[in-house]
Amino acid sequence: MKSNVMYNNYEVKLDSSCYNILLGRDLLPDSLIENLNSKTKNKKVLIVFDPYFEDLVKGKVQDALTCAQYQVHTHLLKSGKHNKTIISAIGLYEFLEIKGFSRDSTIIAFGGGVIGDLVGFVASTYLRGVNFISIPTTLMAMIDSSIGGKVAINFRKTINAIGNYYHPMLDVIDFDFIKSLSDRDFRSGLAEIIKCAVIADKELFAYLDVNSEKVLSRQQDALLYIMSRAIEIKLDHVSGDVREQGKRLRLNYGHTLGHSVEISTDVLSETYRHGEGVSIGMIGAAYIAVKYFGKSDNILREHEAILKKYGLPTRVDSKAINFRRQDLIDECVRNVYKDKKKKNSQLRFVLPQVIGECGVYGDVSDDLVAQAFNYLIRS
Ligand SMILES: NC(=O)c1ccc[n+]([C@@H]2O[C@H](COP(=O)([O-])OP(=O)(O)OC[C@H]3O[C@@H](n4cnc5c(N)ncnc54)[C@H](O)[C@@H]3O)[C@@H](O)[C@H]2O)c1
Repeated sequence: MKSNVMYNNYEVKLDSSCYNILLGRDLLPDSLIENLNSKTKNKKVLIVFDPYFEDLVKGKVQDALTCAQYQVHTHLLKSGKHNKTIISAIGLYEFLEIKGFSRDSTIIAFGGGVIGDLVGFVASTYLRGVNFISIPTTLMAMIDSSIGGKVAINFRKTINAIGNYYHPMLDVIDFDFIKSLSDRDFRSGLAEIIKCAVIADKELFAYLDVNSEKVLSRQQDALLYIMSRAIEIKLDHVSGDVREQGKRLRLNYGHTLGHSVEISTDVLSETYRHGEGVSIGMIGAAYIAVKYFGKSDNILREHEAILKKYGLPTRVDSKAINFRRQDLIDECVRNVYKDKKKKNSQLRFVLPQVIGECGVYGDVSDDLVAQAFNYLIRS
């Protein structure tokens, strides 16, 4: 018996094509196969999957695709940002070449943001672009990384240093995958939803503030509302500005300082999840906003309150992660200038004046940037 439910079907218009983002439950494998049938005649498919989904991919999904006459290959890829590398990409290129994939074959990313970014990057570059489908399984990937066409790998100490803009031909967001996420990964995704509220939607911010218990206990109506708003805000900012020349820049709120904290602390292990880095980065950006606009610190206190409510980090405890405080501040200050949004060698910051409104500013002084890290990093 079919139990799949479709809550939303977003049609995303691009310059010369369009694709759909399906948001629903129990969408696999039926919605995937229906869409594959309508979008491609080539029956060759590769599913690159997170180990967590080995049984599902090699069982129900592969069986159904095989039944529908697809020639299915599978490739396991570990998540975690240390695996978003050129080495993992080369492993995939080799696989595609050995198995004879062509441009009209399809690669499916089945996992979180790491797998989506990496597989999307490989899909965009192999033979100058093969069909790509995204099946995001973390909250972060569902509401952020699978949308907007940014695909990339990390290189040395720069996050997403080598990348591309490449949209999937289908994005299947199956709500049910959220149930099994660890609390840490769930909260990490929530950080990006809080970011959306700060930059563009004060009603969403108020909802998150009042309904934290519902959200944290993953109640369906609460999740559906906050996820739909985050997806709509992302689509609105990306629409007409895929290459980040204007409005899309705002989605980087919290990322400039956050990325620097992520790479500066990440010597041996994943000290901070991406969303945790963004959470700390938003506090730093709110601190800069207070000083830059010379206003009261209300906005900073609102950030602290909501991020703490959702169990997200607001400071870096240098001792707990075995760093000397001043060394870590110096390292963060060094790394922040690797930011990709720089224009004429100048950092650009997204800064909010009030919740729900923000702008992009290119004249924040180096001194204020250093002060922000001083504020964020505790001993
Ligand atoms: N392209 C973009 O626009 C964009 C936007 C935001 C983030 N990102 C990137 O996304 C990455 C972070 O993504 P992430 O937070 O999803 O991390 P991730 O892909 O490493 O996944 C986190 C963990 O969740 C596990 N997992 C995945 N789905 C699960 C499920 N349903 N149930 C239980 N466990 C599950 C994975 O095995 C992994 O251990 C970063 O590399 C970041 O740069 C990209």
